[in-house]
Amino acid sequence: MPSVPAPGPGRSVSVIATGSYLPDRVLSNADLEKMVETSDEWIVSRTGIRERRIALPGQATSDLGLEASRRALAQAGIAAEEVEMIIVATITPDMFFPSTACLIQHALGAKNAFCFDMEAACSGYLYAIEIAHRFVASGTVNTALVVAAEKMSSIVDWKDRSTCVLFGDGAGAAVLRSRPGERGILSSVLGADGSLSHLLSLPGGGSRHPPTLQTISDGLHTLKMAGREVFKHAVNTMSSAATEALRRAGLTVADVACMIPHQANQRIISAIAGKLGVPDANCFVNIDKCGNMSAASLAVGLDQAVRTGRIRKKDIVLMVVFGGGFTWGATVIEW
Ligand code: UT7
Repeated sequence: MPSVPAPGPGRSVSVIATGSYLPDRVLSNADLEKMVETSDEWIVSRTGIRERRIALPGQATSDLGLEASRRALAQAGIAAEEVEMIIVATITPDMFFPSTACLIQHALGAKNAFCFDMEAACSGYLYAIEIAHRFVASGTVNTALVVAAEKMSSIVDWKDRSTCVLFGDGAGAAVLRSRPGERGILSSVLGADGSLSHLLSLPGGGSRHPPTLQTISDGLHTLKMAGREVFKHAVNTMSSAATEALRRAGLTVADVACMIPHQANQRIISAIAGKLGVPDANCFVNIDKCGNMSAASLAVGLDQAVRTGRIRKKDIVLMVVFGGGFTWGATVIEW
């Protein structure tokens, strides 16, 4: 399995604080029944989703990420000026450029940070965590802020029932530092397979199909997904990535206190948990309330798991993800 190398010499790195933000507006399955030909029964039984949050029209991805970042910094008890690096994982940036990370930097007042966006679709949070981990481990920076923020409602085709019922908006953030005496991030597995990129994409608006009246009327600016194909790959790839990440950490599933899988479909989550042998009680789920928030799903999930006491000091946390690209990742942390 393609992956980053095993950790070399360097400092251990911990996620010292998390934060998350969900927009106030709730879109229920009953609301969707009025918009497309669907039913609460179909959505719940096929996906596990009951409601999702939708940003207000004036709220952009950076606004969601900003609030999550403020909460993470408050939790860490550190000032914005102490942040030296900001990575934003997103497929729904405010605009092509400047980066959403630069917009958040300015709004936060994190004037000592260098900033960039990172795109690995749903897997972006774990990719960004691993990049930040390496920068902190090497001593290049002391404090990194990783943000995963998505306004999926801005790229969904609201006439396509096979995708519009699945996604939601939200943001999560994590502060990374080295903390003496803590092991923190133990292992990561990252991978990609671009040969299957066509199964999950947003084809329009970039250099391949620059925006024209034709591309817009052809609907190229909205998300396209071959759901059934993605489903098959997601289950197998996430299971093997999780197994490999645990092996590299020298652990087994029995050591995992909390698994946070990507929240794309309750049936995928149950299939992975079943394959790995993770008991339901140790598997964190928020898809019923949030839907699939792409890169933000794991970031929000980690924060909610910490705040609700599902993760305690010294617990082994396993996060695993799969998404467009295809891309995937698994990360093991001693909390
Ligand atoms: O985050 C990135 C990774 N994403 C994923 O991992 C998503 C993976 N895929 C999935 O979760 C599932 O494939 C979906 C939830 C997207 C779809 O579930 P499915 O069980 O694979 O359904 P399907 O696409 O095979 O469609 C089954 C039927 C079709 O009708 P026919 O052809 O059997 O008559 C669809 O037209 O369900 C129909 N359908 C719907 N019916 C009511 C599709 N969407 C809906 C809907 N409401 N919203």
